[in-house]
Amino acid sequence: MSDSSSPTSARHLVLIGYRGSGKSTIGKLVARLLGLDYLDTDTQIQEKAGKSIREIFADHGEEAFRDMETAILRDLSTLKSLPASVIATGGGMIMRPENRDILKALGLVIWLEVSPEVATARITADTFTGEQRPPLSDQSLADEVERMLSLRNPVYAELASIQISNNAADLSAEDVADSLIGKIRQTHWYQAFEKQIDS
Ligand code: S3P
Repeated sequence: MSDSSSPTSARHLVLIGYRGSGKSTIGKLVARLLGLDYLDTDTQIQEKAGKSIREIFADHGEEAFRDMETAILRDLSTLKSLPASVIATGGGMIMRPENRDILKALGLVIWLEVSPEVATARITADTFTGEQRPPLSDQSLADEVERMLSLRNPVYAELASIQISNNAADLSAEDVADSLIGKIRQTHWYQAFEKQIDS
């Protein structure tokens, strides 16, 4: 895990993690509780392309989608007018080294960790997102999630300054958002954020 002392220019909270980790649910709650904007890189890509990610994969292939992810991140990192935001990222965004550099420069990177079993159950239950998202292999969903997490978890862990698990069935999204905010409050990022609010 990297050091949590992000430079103060890194104004955003960046959520990384696999599908089903709760990036959008927890991200929206944290944004509301801290008074930040919220944006999602997948949504930005879909709006720009005028099609779903499933269609982008089908029409242009995964590499083209990965290029779009990098282009969106470059745009966000040069947008001086972007208000301080919670930025939720696509689950595979962290696999390109260039993306990792930009994500770190954008803000405090937070990994929402999810187990293969919980991710598989949530993805299966989420039929709406399922229609928008392509499969990443021809394996069964459970095998795909297992394999992807074993490839990606070390990368999420290395990149993030904060890790929080979102697996417990007896914790609500509000509970997870509250405990995440508790962790955020202990960082240099939060001190800089408070100073900005006070000034
Ligand atoms: C992907 C995750 C998706 C989306 C695309 C690829 C991945 O985002 O970016 O379908 O490689 O894991 P979510 O994690 O928001 O579902």
